[in-house]
Amino acid sequence: MAAPQERKQFSTVLITGGTDGLGRAAALLLAEQGYRVFAAGRNPERRAQLEAYARERGMPLETVEMDVCDDGSVDRAVAQVRSKAGPIEILINNAGIGYLAPMEIVEIEHLQRQFETNLFGVVRVTQRVLPEMRERRRGRIINMSSAAGKVAQPLYGPYSASKFALEAISDALRVEVSAFGIAVVLIEPGYIPTGFQGVSMELSSPYAPAAENGPYKTLYRNFKKARNRSLSASPYTPEDCARVILRAIRDNPPRPRYTVTRLARVATWVKRLLSDRALDRYMIRTYWRERG
Ligand SMILES: NC(=O)c1ccc[n+]([C@@H]2O[C@H](COP(=O)([O-])OP(=O)(O)OC[C@H]3O[C@@H](n4cnc5c(N)ncnc54)[C@H](OP(=O)(O)O)[C@@H]3O)[C@@H](O)[C@H]2O)c1
Repeated sequence: MAAPQERKQFSTVLITGGTDGLGRAAALLLAEQGYRVFAAGRNPERRAQLEAYARERGMPLETVEMDVCDDGSVDRAVAQVRSKAGPIEILINNAGIGYLAPMEIVEIEHLQRQFETNLFGVVRVTQRVLPEMRERRRGRIINMSSAAGKVAQPLYGPYSASKFALEAISDALRVEVSAFGIAVVLIEPGYIPTGFQGVSMELSSPYAPAAENGPYKTLYRNFKKARNRSLSASPYTPEDCARVILRAIRDNPPRPRYTVTRLARVATWVKRLLSDRALDRYMIRTYWRERG
């Protein structure tokens, strides 16, 4: 449940990947709550659509063009936000993509793109924003991880690797900046239907022939079934995730991690309680089983 408005401690928010899916829902909720929100993204139509939506409703929300994989683009976007609204007090590193491919054949170029967006992009934006937060001794950095940052499923090796790494750098950063009044928080959602799944299929299309006919076709079939079942049965919406992000901003002090969805909570407990062998047995039973 949302905390009352008078507990608001910060004002200016920059959210990457803020023009679609979970980021867009968070941008709108935070603007509704009175934060001055800058939603960053690459796609000009999505940016224009979100700006028009916010303008019609008189919300304090603007968009900025930013590709988290491009130094110049990040520099320009951060400078633009500062010149309009002053110091960024809350940074939400949300932009992300996911490749679906067996580790035997995943192309190094795709692995690099996976890490460029989900990990190096986070570091790139954070390094532009952090010095000012440190000098002002004030700020909150919220990194969008995943249940996949806790448990690696077969075929999701590239995506999970990027989220495991994001968990690690967030844990290191949290301690590094703890002396400067800055909090670092991880948000860990399970499956929530957004455009993410379609983008992921599109990015992974070079592996489609292997998915249908190659030695990993059983894994693919079972993975797709399990994922479609989880998505179609999912009672969760991007707005549920947005409410958790709002809580992570308002809690004082915030928790290091917030899960979103039951699946994410189960993943956390599975990782704590099951041995590696037991988890492997479960994964092999689930993904390698021949079904009719
Ligand atoms: N949906 C889920 O089930 C789920 C579960 C766990 C974790 N997550 C994580 O939550 C985050 C958001 O996912 P989502 O479901 O909202 O995905 P989405 O609907 O596909 O939105 C992704 C956003 O990231 C932006 N983006 C992608 N590449 C970018 C780049 N290079 N530079 C700047 N922006 C970029 C996209 O905007 P443009 O294309 O316009 O740039 C878009 O706004 C991701 O980090 C994802 O890993 C999602």
